[in-house]
Amino acid sequence: MTAPLRQGEPIVVPVALGARSYDIVIGRGILPGLGERIKSLRAGARVAIVSDEGVAAHHLAAAEAALKSASVDSARIIVPAGESSKSYAAFEKVCEAIIEARIERNDLVVALGGGVIGDLAGFAASCVRRGLDFVQVHTSLLAQVDSSVGGKTGINSRQGKNLIGAFHQPALVVADTALLDTLPKREFRAGYAEVAKYGLLGDAAFFAWLEKNWQDVFAGGSAREHAIAVCCRAKAGIVARDERETGERALLNLGHTFGHALEAGCGFSDRLLHGEAVALGMVLAFEFSARKGLITAADSARAAAHIAAVGLPIHVREVPGGVPGADALMDLIGQDKKVKRGKLTFILVRAIGEAFVENDVDPAEVRAFLSEKLA
Ligand SMILES: NC(=O)c1ccc[n+]([C@@H]2O[C@H](COP(=O)([O-])OP(=O)(O)OC[C@H]3O[C@@H](n4cnc5c(N)ncnc54)[C@H](O)[C@@H]3O)[C@@H](O)[C@H]2O)c1
Ligand SMILES: [Zn+2]
Repeated sequence: MTAPLRQGEPIVVPVALGARSYDIVIGRGILPGLGERIKSLRAGARVAIVSDEGVAAHHLAAAEAALKSASVDSARIIVPAGESSKSYAAFEKVCEAIIEARIERNDLVVALGGGVIGDLAGFAASCVRRGLDFVQVHTSLLAQVDSSVGGKTGINSRQGKNLIGAFHQPALVVADTALLDTLPKREFRAGYAEVAKYGLLGDAAFFAWLEKNWQDVFAGGSAREHAIAVCCRAKAGIVARDERETGERALLNLGHTFGHALEAGCGFSDRLLHGEAVALGMVLAFEFSARKGLITAADSARAAAHIAAVGLPIHVREVPGGVPGADALMDLIGQDKKVKRGKLTFILVRAIGEAFVENDVDPAEVRAFLSEKLA
């Protein structure tokens, strides 16, 4: 796992889901090969590229040129950048534009963007003509490591995030790590929280490798491809073993119960990005585990030290404008997670790389812990 990889050789991570199996192709500078890949995936297919204004400004021309060089005919559908495009209005616009572009059952939708575009375009693809195949070309680190596996697509409703959606597996995922060079640093760092998560939840050797190699991941060396591949493989393994999200898959929520409460407490605003909330949430999950005597204070401090080293927040006081108090956070945790027989479920840790599902967490203990942390 820690062997250096030759630059320029794409890594292929297969996602084994029977008839819905597909490949994730990861490599630096592989976007120009997109047309050829699409041609061998579906000869004669026409393509609708869905993207957002921010991504399109940097990468749409290259994607279109890649398709044109392989004689693949394409249309473009552009929506504003940001979470607000995971809306009914944007969904309607994208669906109708796909129909206008005369994309038929044998054609393809290409999602060119981060997680927002992947979710929006994937959901539109799942609905138009009762289901079109789609290809994801992920342009954010978060999407490359997190949206590449699992098949979740969807939009937000007034009541909450991701409440309208479908499972729709892509036919192919292309993760060109060079596209991340234009991603704002803060977005890259936020995506890195999910990378660290895979080490912290189940792979101590990967975590140790990240401690040594994170600078190269950020700088765009071959460590970046390697890290993304490790995350995709880890998620693919977990999802293949637990497609219905009944057991092991819950481990992917490490840091997300605390994280979601903090995100919601900040009104899902720019004050706290999802990955930043996950970073804080993971630190809290480690500290809470240490408080319960499940792990050593040294392990908890080591996890936090790495998160801090890359520039992610580890103290709630680092959130500009602050976060709500313990009572408000407990209310948000209660909304996120159903309280079963007076107990909460959390992903806790026994060591770095050894997360487990704990169904028997006393809400009073969490409240006391949060009160201490916020003091
Ligand atoms: N389907 C899944 O399994 C899954 C998993 C995790 C997250 N998500 C969803 O993903 C969304 C978050 O994804 P995200 O963080 O990628 O957000 P995003 O798609 O909004 O991208 C973040 C910002 O970066 C810009 N951007 C993206 N790539 C760029 C590039 N290469 N160069 C310059 N700018 C670029 C975008 O325009 C946007 O402004 C959330 O809606 C979340 O619910 C889905
Ligand atoms: Zn997440």
